[in-house]
Amino acid sequence: MLPALDPEEQRHSEAVAALVRAELATAGGWLSFERFMELVLYAPGLGYYSAGSRKLGRDGDFVTAPEMSELFGRCVAAQCAPVLRATGGEILELGAGTGSLAAAILAALDVQGVLPERYAILEVSADLAARQRARLDALPTHLRARVEWCERLPQAPLRGVILANEVADALPVRRFRLRGGAVHDLGVARASGDALQAAEGAPDAALAQVCAAMFGAPARSLPDGYTSEVNLRVGPWIATLGECLERGIMLLADYGLPRAHYYHAQRVAGTLRCHFRQRAHDDPFVNLGMQDISAWVDFTRVAEAASLAGLEVSGFATQAAFLLALGIERAVAAAPDVPSRARLAGEARRLVMPEEMGEAFKVMALTRGYEAPLGGFSLQDLRRQL
Ligand SMILES: C[S@@+](CC[C@H](N)C(=O)[O-])C[C@H]1O[C@@H](n2cnc3c(N)ncnc32)[C@H](O)[C@@H]1O
Repeated sequence: MLPALDPEEQRHSEAVAALVRAELATAGGWLSFERFMELVLYAPGLGYYSAGSRKLGRDGDFVTAPEMSELFGRCVAAQCAPVLRATGGEILELGAGTGSLAAAILAALDVQGVLPERYAILEVSADLAARQRARLDALPTHLRARVEWCERLPQAPLRGVILANEVADALPVRRFRLRGGAVHDLGVARASGDALQAAEGAPDAALAQVCAAMFGAPARSLPDGYTSEVNLRVGPWIATLGECLERGIMLLADYGLPRAHYYHAQRVAGTLRCHFRQRAHDDPFVNLGMQDISAWVDFTRVAEAASLAGLEVSGFATQAAFLLALGIERAVAAAPDVPSRARLAGEARRLVMPEEMGEAFKVMALTRGYEAPLGGFSLQDLRRQL
């Protein structure tokens, strides 16, 4: 049972639903899931990320690693420091949430004496950008002065670091269902009354081609009824980011798997997850515009796109291995007193324990013109699984 929406939230959600119904009517009664997800998450003024609900944090819908602990940012800073020493330049963070990661990284890099020339944030959500400003205005002046928001990716080639924590899993995905070896595009249509439901359509060339390449045509290797997602946007996204990066590293952290595990025959219902007030569930057709929708990342697809963009896949590890390699235990031990050590130890456990975030989250490093070994990937190398 999900908590009920209050009357204001109910009104907002109804406005989002009306927008979806209007687009369904114009489109002849069927929308791809990708378009539906784009509307409910990003429609200007209405979508989950565009409008004003709490979203991230303990009083919101879900807690991300940087929200859980500053230890995450400190470890990421430990990976950024040698890169910035070698390349100079800047950090660009995509989808910076509440600004917690930026704050932790800048504070840690300041201690190490290796601040970026600027810390740029590209955020599609006006609401989150406002929260980031409020959070980062509290930084010491010399750190705050380095933070800038940009409307689009930089035109000038970037040297340094591009960061994206839990951004790829928020890109709209296509859903598909396999039946009798054929691929069906699992989109959205109206059910009875105003309700929405999943509805199969014929796949377009892009979906058919991608599924044929992954599962063969006909797709006989997976059970009948197999339902999953494919992110057709992540490839172009990586290509565009790759064009920006002249020299340095791109660090992507997300729920995700290599392809062979992602499309495992036993994962019959895919990876789509909705988050509403700290509850995870799998119904994207309720609480429209008031709940997060995400899908795990197929890191093999990311690696393929990176190779096409001339980037090197220089590291792939679980979040646990990444944080342990970057000294999360040392950071806990260095806490100044017993209460803060106990607090940090609890936070570190949630970040690294396999049944919490340690295994499900992976970190991938893509590099251009940077060959030095990356400390965060010294304990584990999962690249052969890609
Ligand atoms: C799940 S939240 C993660 C926030 C933050 N990185 C964290 O870990 O706390 C997803 C973030 O990505 C942003 N976002 C979604 N699509 C984006 C895109 N194409 N470019 C930049 N940011 C995007 C959202 O507005 C939001 O800030």
